[in-house]
Amino acid sequence: MFNAKDISTEFIYRCLDSDKSTSELLEFITAQLSKKAKNTLWNVGVINENSGRLNFIKEDKFFFKLNTEAKNLLKDKDSPQILKQKYSGYKYSIAAPIKYKKQDVGIVICLTSKKNTNLVKKITRALAHFIKQHRLKKKLLEDAMLMNIIINANQGTSTDKNTSSLIKILSVQLKKFLKASGLRVYMKTKDGSSYFYDRKGNRQIFEGTLSGSITGMVLQSKRPRMVHDVSAEESYNKNIDDVSGSSDIKRIIAVPLVVSGEAVGVLVVSGGTDREVFVGSDLVWAKNIAGQIAAAYERLKLYKDIHKLFISAVEAFAAAIDGKDPYTHGHSRRVTLYSMLLGKALELDKQQLEYLRLSALLHDIGKIAVPGYILTKEEKLTDQECGRLKEHPQRGVNILKHIKEFGPLLGGIKHHHERWDGDGYPDGLKKDKIPYLARIITVADAFDAMVSQRVYRKALSEDEALKELEECSGTHFDGELASKFIDEYKKKFYSGKSSGKFSAKSSGKES
Ligand SMILES: [Fe+2]
Repeated sequence: MFNAKDISTEFIYRCLDSDKSTSELLEFITAQLSKKAKNTLWNVGVINENSGRLNFIKEDKFFFKLNTEAKNLLKDKDSPQILKQKYSGYKYSIAAPIKYKKQDVGIVICLTSKKNTNLVKKITRALAHFIKQHRLKKKLLEDAMLMNIIINANQGTSTDKNTSSLIKILSVQLKKFLKASGLRVYMKTKDGSSYFYDRKGNRQIFEGTLSGSITGMVLQSKRPRMVHDVSAEESYNKNIDDVSGSSDIKRIIAVPLVVSGEAVGVLVVSGGTDREVFVGSDLVWAKNIAGQIAAAYERLKLYKDIHKLFISAVEAFAAAIDGKDPYTHGHSRRVTLYSMLLGKALELDKQQLEYLRLSALLHDIGKIAVPGYILTKEEKLTDQECGRLKEHPQRGVNILKHIKEFGPLLGGIKHHHERWDGDGYPDGLKKDKIPYLARIITVADAFDAMVSQRVYRKALSEDEALKELEECSGTHFDGELASKFIDEYKKKFYSGKSSGKFSAKSSGKES
């Protein structure tokens, strides 16, 4: 005996258990119904949530007329209706509306040999339940996946990444979830101009102003908009609001990116075809995503502010070192300048260049712990004084090692007085055992020491200092680096003037 209650339980079970589409499952279910309720043949039509169109599982010639009659007959009806059209082998054609909480969900058609409208009623109730459950399950799965994407995107966007990478990660999947054909994030700058990130996360210049567009209104009002028909919207501006690159967008969602109460940009999502109709939950998701992008932007801004503070602190340190000895005034800055000249010529990456810049600025920070009279003494240093001065690389490390951010700088600071031949200090490291950044700083440091006037000697001319670098290649300096520095210096700074004499070797106080 066929039992509609058992079937409805089975529907729900299959709905929760299967990852097939609603229509695939309905095909399976109608086949099962025909098997269990003998001499019946079933068809089901489901209303698409976005387009409102009624799509039947079976739409062949046999069912086409029947589907049309059922559709027309059931308008404003709540109960099963007997159709006029009949088919051989089946005495009755019964159609019933599938409703869930008074809302039309679809239509069921049953060809049967018995006029059993109660059975059709029960099946429509079970189908209504199934369709709603299955849609809910799909939505939950999509939401969970989207949430997962956002969480992963944020995890991948630590302070050293930028807003662009977040948008890139989000955009890969967002188009699918929001059924959108375009996505763009406009950002405004302090001077009122704008730029945008396309959905690949590429930053591009935006010529002109955002005002006079839906995007501009959202930026100004800080209120999101979901526009279903842009052709009926006076403020629609194709050049700004159509972010799909196609010519036929119909609708957009625009959500402001708000940071500390100020709108810093707008997330714009556009759609065109019927399948790209936006629903209320899309606006909720767009708001959620805009919130994530705004948070990433705020984190990045905060990171930049902190980094600026950090750099200011480093520069203050460097000034304090140079200030201890009026003759070495500006030495740390010049060593940084020469180090960067060489680092760029060696094509170091951005991160390494930043480490080089900071290491060079701080290379002599240990001199803070060396008595001033040693640094400014005109006569030759005693062995004890010389030993004290040579402690400055290690003392620099001792000062900075407690702060995590200085970790990558310690090698350059500790070993900037090592020599290529191993005769340097503090560890007597040789050749490539000496950290690369330290070898660069050594060349820059020595060059500046040679061309600067000190209390215990006069400055060397550029020519003399460059010649000295060349002559000491392979002994004091890494030959490759010294040679590169000479070339670059000649290209960028060489004045051709010659003055001064080099006489600092015996003092033991270079740099
Ligand atoms: Fe030094």
